[in-house]
Amino acid sequence: MSRGARRRPLRVPSYAKVNLGLEVLGTRADGYHELRTLFQTIGLHDTLDLSPASEVSVRCDHPDVPTDHTNLAARAALALRRYGRVTEGVAIAITKRIPVGGGLGGGSSNAASVLLALDRWWGLGLGRGGLLPLARSLGADVPFFLFGGTALGLARGDEVYPLHHQVRGHVVLALPGRPVSTAAVFARIDARLTPRENSNNIFRFVSSDLGGSSALRILTNELESAALEEAPDLKHQVRRIRGFLVREGASLASLSGSGSSYYGLFDDATGAGRAQAALREAGFHALRTRTLSLDQYGRAWSRSLGTPRAAAQ
Ligand code: C5P
Repeated sequence: MSRGARRRPLRVPSYAKVNLGLEVLGTRADGYHELRTLFQTIGLHDTLDLSPASEVSVRCDHPDVPTDHTNLAARAALALRRYGRVTEGVAIAITKRIPVGGGLGGGSSNAASVLLALDRWWGLGLGRGGLLPLARSLGADVPFFLFGGTALGLARGDEVYPLHHQVRGHVVLALPGRPVSTAAVFARIDARLTPRENSNNIFRFVSSDLGGSSALRILTNELESAALEEAPDLKHQVRRIRGFLVREGASLASLSGSGSSYYGLFDDATGAGRAQAALREAGFHALRTRTLSLDQYGRAWSRSLGTPRAAAQ
């Protein structure tokens, strides 16, 4: 029996994120865009089940998720296996709850979860810092999911700074049920990037002492109008969704990433409950969840990996 065959199956979470604000500062030499964004993990999550195998494989209960080696979770496992000179493989089963192509970071989160889980499972001991270069090579949003909570993302979004002030609240997600291509939305931004003053609202938010929800109101997602140009059928829906969220008292109502998910952040459960009910009544697919802070994210991972918090750093 090989060493790998004795490993116990491992189940880990893979949380979604929303962008509390997103500013596009310009294009970069590598073709990506220079961003300033505030990431926030939320309770909505996929589940990954890892079992011993001689090769790397992925399966998923969602038909739109590829299961070949283009899957970001498979790429993460292959990259770590190569990097750590590991000879065994892993069978990864993904139970999908995060909408695909919804701007909620599902694929990136799955990749980061695989890195965190296999680092432990294969006994590599790289930790978050050691996994960072691999995470970066897999995608701009992947590094954030090594940390979670509320974090500032700079450069491609892959330079991540967890914030001292963690945003807490109830989240209502409205899911229009159609994917939007992130690359296509950024390409539209290129077509219209004229020299302009960059917004400083994210820095203002980060450096402000304003607690609570009032500071959130200054945040905007600069991808929103390009996303609605890319998916014009969403314009009407988004206007209605936003109306319900604002009416019920959302301190922030915004598209997440390049869409198509739209969310509202609420201080209290009552407003969130009313917004979800109103959205459902109007025929929208609406989910409720909560923000997941840096500590909560770290604890969830420690529980899954069966490690004290410090060992999971
Ligand atoms: O890195 P990832 O593969 O998740 O990014 C998806 C696409 O989004 C990229 O191919 C690129 O077109 C666009 N993108 C960008 N600038 C960023 C992040 C993503 O142009 N900072």
